[in-house]
Amino acid sequence: MQERRIQVLEALTEGPVAGPALADRLGVSRAAVWKHVEALREAGFDIAGGENGYELRSVPEFGPAVAFGLDAPVDVEYHDSIDSTNRRARELAARGRDGAVVVADEQTGGRGRLDRDWASPSGGVWLSVLLRPTVPAAHAPVYTLAAAVATTRAVREAGVEANIKWPNDVIVGGRKLAGILTEMEGEADRVDWLVVGIGLNANVDPGAVPAENTTSLHAECGGVDRRVLTQRLIEVLHDLHTDRDAILPAWREYADTLGRRVRVETGDRTVEGRAVDVEYPGTLDVDTGDSVVTVAAGDCEHLRPAGG
Ligand code: BTN
Repeated sequence: MQERRIQVLEALTEGPVAGPALADRLGVSRAAVWKHVEALREAGFDIAGGENGYELRSVPEFGPAVAFGLDAPVDVEYHDSIDSTNRRARELAARGRDGAVVVADEQTGGRGRLDRDWASPSGGVWLSVLLRPTVPAAHAPVYTLAAAVATTRAVREAGVEANIKWPNDVIVGGRKLAGILTEMEGEADRVDWLVVGIGLNANVDPGAVPAENTTSLHAECGGVDRRVLTQRLIEVLHDLHTDRDAILPAWREYADTLGRRVRVETGDRTVEGRAVDVEYPGTLDVDTGDSVVTVAAGDCEHLRPAGG
């Protein structure tokens, strides 16, 4: 959203403001104020114009409004519909951008891990964060963990008790609520850019996403305010990005995998045992009974309840 429109909204949150006073405050013409108000109304903001001036009555639950009230130094690019927010964020990366977040209500070509399709109907939170951390490429997985922590915390603040399944699925009661796809470019000693894509089944009908072992916030709690949820997710991710030491402790706190018996398919082998810890930048330690095996990546299956 244009910076000027955010300034208009900020002025209106303090109470009704007359058009001329708003124009003075922003240093623009009255006609410009009127245009901004019209554009905001079109974006779904309910702005009444009465005797006391313009009054902000309600803020839309999603859309460009995600940028309004967001407490993180990022530029939000919102799309009602796009093929893939990760694809768009990669495009922005190629143009040299940093600190951009691409958000969409619907994706028509969403991608998941292992190049799978990712169903992304209207009502979800589909977003990609473009980061340029000054770390070696081998450290990149920690940002995926950070995204899982940020998603889990935002979902918990919305009232749903989510957990993390290693490495980066956000689950509720064993069913997948959100997934993360991180893409990267760089050299061994330096990341050029990272795109962390988060797909969160928010206000979507569970029937609109693959049913097997999947859930949505609509199914869990009847739906959420996606604007607030998305803002919290972006804010927490930004904080963790600037404080990497906080990522693993938070991940452990939310982990559903630690303490469980797991089977991890790594591609060239299967590791089975008790998941005992996660280590920087995101490896899983599995106690097989004979030894503790450190797994860097793979598909993880929980075999039975913790302590069972
Ligand atoms: C997974 O397979 O679990 C990861 C799914 C990641 C989906 C998200 S939705 C936003 C972003 N854009 C994409 O095309 N994919 C990611």
